[in-house]
Amino acid sequence: SNQFCDAGIGHGDSTCAADFPSSNSKLLIKGGTVVNAHHQQIADVYVENGIILAVNPNIRVGDEVTVIDATGKYVMPGGIDPHTHLEFEFMDTTTVDDFFSGQAAALAGGTTMHIDFVIPLKGSLTAGFEAYEKKAKKSCMDYGFHMAITKWDETVSREMEIMVKEKGINSFKFFMAYKGALMINDELLLEGLKKCKSLGALAMVHAENGDAVYEGQKKMIELGITGPEGHALSRPAVMEGEATARAIRLADFVNTPLYVVHVMSIDAMEEIAKARKSGQRVIGEPVASGLALDESWLWHPDFEIAAKYVMSPPIRKQGHDKALQAALSRGVLQLVGTDHCAFNSTQKAFGIDDFRKIPNGVNGIEERMHLVWDIMVESGQISVTDYVRLTSTECARIFNIYPRKGAIFPGSDADIIILNPNSSFEITAKSHHSRLDTNVYEGRRGKGKIEVTIAGGRIVWENNELKIAPGTGRYIQMPPYSYLFDGIDKKDAFYLNSLQAPVKRAKSST
Ligand code: URP
Ligand code: ZN
Ligand code: ZN
Ligand code: ZN
Repeated sequence: SNQFCDAGIGHGDSTCAADFPSSNSKLLIKGGTVVNAHHQQIADVYVENGIILAVNPNIRVGDEVTVIDATGKYVMPGGIDPHTHLEFEFMDTTTVDDFFSGQAAALAGGTTMHIDFVIPLKGSLTAGFEAYEKKAKKSCMDYGFHMAITKWDETVSREMEIMVKEKGINSFKFFMAYKGALMINDELLLEGLKKCKSLGALAMVHAENGDAVYEGQKKMIELGITGPEGHALSRPAVMEGEATARAIRLADFVNTPLYVVHVMSIDAMEEIAKARKSGQRVIGEPVASGLALDESWLWHPDFEIAAKYVMSPPIRKQGHDKALQAALSRGVLQLVGTDHCAFNSTQKAFGIDDFRKIPNGVNGIEERMHLVWDIMVESGQISVTDYVRLTSTECARIFNIYPRKGAIFPGSDADIIILNPNSSFEITAKSHHSRLDTNVYEGRRGKGKIEVTIAGGRIVWENNELKIAPGTGRYIQMPPYSYLFDGIDKKDAFYLNSLQAPVKRAKSST
């Protein structure tokens, strides 16, 4: 498709800036069905200086205002992807999408904000943060950061505090897998959970039993299973369930909220369901690949095709996908991410003789909004208001930026999409906007098409064309103590009160 600015890196051409609409422009979106997480109505939306000023039927404006007709279409908050990896250095290589190309792809697919994972640099959170600040300079849409915690000492503990109090980070990810690289043990996880609680920051876990996975991988290689199918066989769902349960128990022990990223299996989902039923604050994030795909691709005879489906935890057997969809519709899982982590076929080929060397990760930042619409709304599993909640509003609430983000209210940022339910989409590597040379959803078609994306009050996607410029995206600081922390202190006090006084024992007479 035709686009202005994502043809290559460092385009910096002046045509691009000249064609780029300023955020001062005034916009009126007329006659659409405006959908928020709890309400929908036919109304006009008026935008000025990047902010929504009014949501009402029949708004009248002057000639200087750009009018977009949304009759018969849905006007919804732009998607927020809670889980991406842009310009991520991982498994001896770097993902192909950076903060410009990845965001260009996102905007073309109706996502107007993402939260990426800062990885500490040689153990330093500050150095890691600064490195990601640099990477994100070329941003063309708003973004926030989570931070990974990969070791533990006094410095890390102090730096976590700085990140929360000064840098706008309110969530930390702990990897229970990737032994020898990012993996942490239970002792560190406990320290991390306690620290998160003391800061009002949300603890996130990649839940797989890393030691068992390491064993499983060795076993597969010994058996001579070196292809991509070995990836699935070496890290079974039961080991995702085990780690999910363990993280949930430890978070309960500390009494702090927990966010489980990329929930890929029934096993993990059922642990989350059980904990939530008992009243524990646990959030479960399925990703587009887990909802839309199954593991059979890993057995494809063509290595290049099979390898593109390698991610962790693995895409599971048929049945897990449907169960995760049902869990979303029942409220057991609360929002959808992508884990967008794009490696070209040349990078995937590092593991041609050994699946352990295939860089882990799949695409999705551009496809998530269309896939969730098609899989969840078109199938009748959720309402359109639920769609807004799962793709945008709940993410904004969890990461404490609602209602600036995640809503079409007066005062909210003008991050808006227009979806035509009567049109359709088709996904191909040829037409997508990511730099990736493949696509795990190649050839997939479905109903519903995001025809317009407005980010920060600018029309950035219209008529299948992107109009974007590097440097226009903003870093969104995320404050601590989201709603998930409400009542945590009361529960602590209740627990302390319920303890019986220490037993007084007489001194032994001997
Ligand atoms: O395979 C994956 N998921 N790659 C990205 C890193 C992670 O674990 O999220
Ligand atoms: Zn350009
Ligand atoms: Zn992960
Ligand atoms: Zn990830």
